[in-house]
Amino acid sequence: MRTILAIETSCDETAAAVVVAGRHIVANVVASQVQLHRKYGGVFPELASREHVRVLPLVVQEAIGALTGGWSAVDAVAVTHGPGLAGSLLVGVNFAKGIAFSLGLPLLALNHLLSHIYANWLIPEGQDPAEPPEPEPQFPLLVLVVSGGHTDLVLMRDHEHYYTIGQTIDDAAGEALDKVARLLGLPYPGGPEIERAAAHGVPDAIQFPRARLRGTYDFSFSGIKTAALRLVQSYTGDEQEPDLSRLPIANIAAAFQEAVVQTLVEKTVEAAKAFEIREVLLAGGVAANGRLREAMKAALAPIPVRYPVRRLCTDNAAMVAAAAYYQGDRARAPWELDVYPNLSLPRVASVPELSTGY
Ligand code: KG4
Ligand code: ZN
Repeated sequence: MRTILAIETSCDETAAAVVVAGRHIVANVVASQVQLHRKYGGVFPELASREHVRVLPLVVQEAIGALTGGWSAVDAVAVTHGPGLAGSLLVGVNFAKGIAFSLGLPLLALNHLLSHIYANWLIPEGQDPAEPPEPEPQFPLLVLVVSGGHTDLVLMRDHEHYYTIGQTIDDAAGEALDKVARLLGLPYPGGPEIERAAAHGVPDAIQFPRARLRGTYDFSFSGIKTAALRLVQSYTGDEQEPDLSRLPIANIAAAFQEAVVQTLVEKTVEAAKAFEIREVLLAGGVAANGRLREAMKAALAPIPVRYPVRRLCTDNAAMVAAAAYYQGDRARAPWELDVYPNLSLPRVASVPELSTGY
C-alpha cells in the first residue's frame, strides 16, 4: 500500500490527497468552507455536509489528476471516520467506500487526531528535491495536539503504541481562541486573527489568570475565556450590539494568546521532563501559531521541537494518507465502517505506570 488516496471531511474543509510511501505528497487539495460559515461565526453543520457532497467529487478528481497513472496507480483509500461532525464524516466515509468497493481497493479508517500527528512525517510540497528530506520523527516522542476541538498530550512509543496522558477538561485551545476572537469582533476562525492582532499588542498589558491543574497533565481554558469576557464587558457593558471601538484589541489578543501559549507550554514541559522522549511534536490547527512554536522551542531546549509547515497543521488529507501508510493493516476497515463523532485516542488510566518502560 505505497500510494494512498486519502479523504478528509470531518469539519469544514473538503480535502483529498495522494501521498506515496507516507511522506511524499503528490497532490494535496483542500477546499475551505470558511467563507460560507463566516456569517454564522462558526461551522454550521448541515451546511458543511451539503457543501462536502457538492465539492468532494471535484476535489478527489483534482487529486487523482495529479497522479501519474491516475486511478490505476492507487493502492488503497483512506478516510477520516472520527472525531468530527457526524454528517460531514458520513459524506467522506461513504464516498471512500464507494471508490474502494468499485476499484477493489483496501479501505482504511483513520482517527483525525492521529492524522494531525502524522502531518509531522510529511515532506512539505515544493521542497527542493535535491535537498535531503528531514529524517522521520524519532520515537519515543511526546505530541501536543491542539486544534479547534482537541487539546491532548499524547505519548507515542512507536506507530502501534500511543496513549493520551492529558487533555482539556473543558474548552479546546483553538475553541477558546475562536470564542475570544468573536468577543473582539474578529472573524472566524479566530486563531489566526488573534495571532495577527497580537503582533501589534503588548502581552504584559493585561494579566489573565492561568489554570494550573496540579498532579495531572490536563488543561483548562474556560477560566481565562470567562476572564476575557468580563474584561471585554468592562469596556462595552453587556449590550447586545456592543461598541467595540474602545476595546484595546491588540493588547487583549496578545495577552490572551500568551496565557493560552504558556498554559500549553507548562504542561508539555512537565510531561517532557517526566518521560524519556527524544522529540516533542506539535500538531493541529493551533500548531500554526508562531508564538506557540517559539515559546515551546525556548522552553524545551535542548529537546528538539518539530511541527508541520502551516498549511499542513490545519485540516488536510495528506496527513490522513501519512497516518494510513504508517498504521498499515491496523487501519484496515470493513465495508460496514461507521462514523464516530466522539472518537478519541486511547487514554491511560494511570500515567505513573507509563514512566517506567511505557
Ligand atoms: O486542526 P484544525 O484545522 O481543525 C480541527 O480539527 O479543529 O484546527 C482549527 C483551529 C481553529 O480553532 C483555529 O482558530 C486554530 O486552529 N488556528 C490557529 C491558527 N491557525 C488555525 N490558532 C492560533 N494561531 C494560528 N495561526
Ligand atoms: Zn483537525
